[in-house]
Amino acid sequence: MAAAPKSAERPPDLTTTKAPFIEEARAHGEIYIIEQPYELYSAENQATWGRLLERMRDPWARYANRRFLEGMAKLQLSAARIPHLDEVNRFLQPLTGFRARAVSGYVPSYVFFDCLRRREFPTTITIRDGERLEYLPEPDIFHDVAGHVPMHTDRAFAAALVRFGDAAEAAAQRAAALPDQRERLRRLTSNIRAMSRFFWFSVEFGLMRHAGDQPGEAQLGQRDDADGALKVYGSGLLSSFGEIAHAIDAPEVERRPFDIAEVVNQPFEIDHYQPLLYIVDSFDHLFALVNELEAWMQAGKLDDVAGGEPAVSESDLASFLRAH
Ligand SMILES: [Fe+2]
Repeated sequence: MAAAPKSAERPPDLTTTKAPFIEEARAHGEIYIIEQPYELYSAENQATWGRLLERMRDPWARYANRRFLEGMAKLQLSAARIPHLDEVNRFLQPLTGFRARAVSGYVPSYVFFDCLRRREFPTTITIRDGERLEYLPEPDIFHDVAGHVPMHTDRAFAAALVRFGDAAEAAAQRAAALPDQRERLRRLTSNIRAMSRFFWFSVEFGLMRHAGDQPGEAQLGQRDDADGALKVYGSGLLSSFGEIAHAIDAPEVERRPFDIAEVVNQPFEIDHYQPLLYIVDSFDHLFALVNELEAWMQAGKLDDVAGGEPAVSESDLASFLRAH
């Protein structure tokens, strides 16, 4: 189902926001899961992938959480070519049951979290324009596959992702049980905002202090990241050449211990480097925090979080309302 080029000067490729294949999929309605149309990647797309991966090797070695580095090695991602998701999944699925599923574009919030519940990760398959390697508001395959998927090889991290799906399910069920339409939308908006903030400050921009991860190694002092050093595990940082170092080294960044009450009330903006980041001790700690998030959801403690960013779209609300 390859799309024909719309004009003679631009052959079909899979550049983010410019790929006719994706535009066609969107035009046909709410198509989320698609096949990765691998043959549509142009030589330029392939070269962009290689440049993105190569330039991250040093920053990753220096700043990335070791689970991420181990995950990269297990997935055998190569700078030589854009990965086939099927190949990635052959390595990934036996480890944690997770698999990357190609999607046609933005996936509304409930659908996204519900995929996580089934251990499926909605994965963007387009790639950013080679002219603009750094800033990109939309996710692309480099962010999703090189930034997120290596984390999914870790069992505790994968289990935490599943619990996000459970929290979303709890929000949808509570909304369905509420007769008053206005109040239902108000609470749901608050719930979605709380979940988005939690996800942002952990899965996307989280930091970890390594001492709590494997105490045995810390005592032995075998690794330089086992002595309490801060490392990055958030995928927004792991896929950003500029921000990964900034997150750890810049004196102006505030780094606080992860506190649920604070995080769910903390607005964030996506168009500049993050001035405030939150630290967990380990992926078991993260898992316990997401459990708590779900308990807070059930207890109604996420029904009145502070307003502000992020905005909650109608399609996100509708996705929760459709669930039950
Ligand atoms: Fe992401």
